[in-house]
Amino acid sequence: MSLLIDNIGELVTNVAGIGEGGPLGIRRKAALLVEEGEVAWIGPARYAPATDHRIDADGRAVLPGFVDSHSHLVFAGDRAAEFAARMAGEPYTGGGIRTTVAATRAADDDRLRDTVGRLHAEAVRQGTTTIEIKSGYGLNVADEARSLRIAAEFTAETTFLGAHVVPAEYADRPDDYVGLVCGPMLRAALPYAKWIDVFCERGAFDADHARAILTVGQAAGLGVRVHANQLGPGPGVQLGVELGAASVDHCTHLSDVDVDVLAMSDTVATLLPGAEFSTRSPYPDARRLLDAGVTVALATDCNPGSSYTSSMPFCVALAVREMGMTPAEAVWAATAGGARALRRADAGVLRPGVPADLSILDAPSYLHLAYRPGVPLISQVLHNGVPQCQ
Ligand code: NIG
Ligand code: FE
Repeated sequence: MSLLIDNIGELVTNVAGIGEGGPLGIRRKAALLVEEGEVAWIGPARYAPATDHRIDADGRAVLPGFVDSHSHLVFAGDRAAEFAARMAGEPYTGGGIRTTVAATRAADDDRLRDTVGRLHAEAVRQGTTTIEIKSGYGLNVADEARSLRIAAEFTAETTFLGAHVVPAEYADRPDDYVGLVCGPMLRAALPYAKWIDVFCERGAFDADHARAILTVGQAAGLGVRVHANQLGPGPGVQLGVELGAASVDHCTHLSDVDVDVLAMSDTVATLLPGAEFSTRSPYPDARRLLDAGVTVALATDCNPGSSYTSSMPFCVALAVREMGMTPAEAVWAATAGGARALRRADAGVLRPGVPADLSILDAPSYLHLAYRPGVPLISQVLHNGVPQCQ
């Protein structure tokens, strides 16, 4: 089957050096041919070949599907009351994670699967075509394994986050919990996990525990990612870089050394502005990272506690308004940046040979994603060349 998207007013390819827009590689008056689920050809609309099916983009913008490289979709219940308390002045400490752990353990598989399915569909409607999903609300062997098993039904980018917090039953023996994570829990997670992550933060896991967990996961074949420097300064970013992490996530409280170390590494700094929005905290300084030469990604962090949004367009708008990013930098970070954070060369880009994962906007330019915040601008989404239900 062949499908032509014709009359594209502005095509963001993320192939640097093509057309305009630097890293965005923008082509105008373009057409894009999909064959067998992949991009087969991109060129001027006037040279477009005849095809079985055709979508007339009518001058609108097309961009690569968003790559949401950080989410926690496997959970039960919500924490709306905790959010309301924060908006009345309570601080966010991560203490509510244990509330979600209790609800998640009590839920059956179908309920968890329904929640992941609902949030995944929500994300797709907003232009996300690749999503990473973490465990981390099971925190025992069986519930971490089933969280990952259910996540794997929706994505190949699954992350074992048994080290989210120390669960209540291990509160007075954290060393024993780390032993459980490094042994039986990791073994049960391995068939379903691609990545390992640790919440390295005061009140969660310190540098020694985080290093032990990440090292054993890495030796078992998992890629490394770290929740780092979210609530305060700490060792997470430098530990992640030392271990060759694909990404260190949050990066809200960084020292000059953290920024320098990141700039000299292949580790992506993934910023999660939904968390600062939803915890009413100061945003990370994306400008400082970009000016230092750090590769920046944007992701939703979708979870019921600190960031209950599945919307990448919302994160793009926040990054532009609150974090010093230009619209071009934010759109790149939400597509190609997310792909770098997952070490995926075939996502976040539109060129012949990659899966046809893309969005058609109800707007003439990607600029409108930040210019028209809160407006549902994603009019059509293709994943592997297949139109998704809108
Ligand atoms: O990335 N920081 C740790 N984990 C999540 C929050 C989880 C929760 O509050 O339930 C985050 O923000
Ligand atoms: Fe997170």
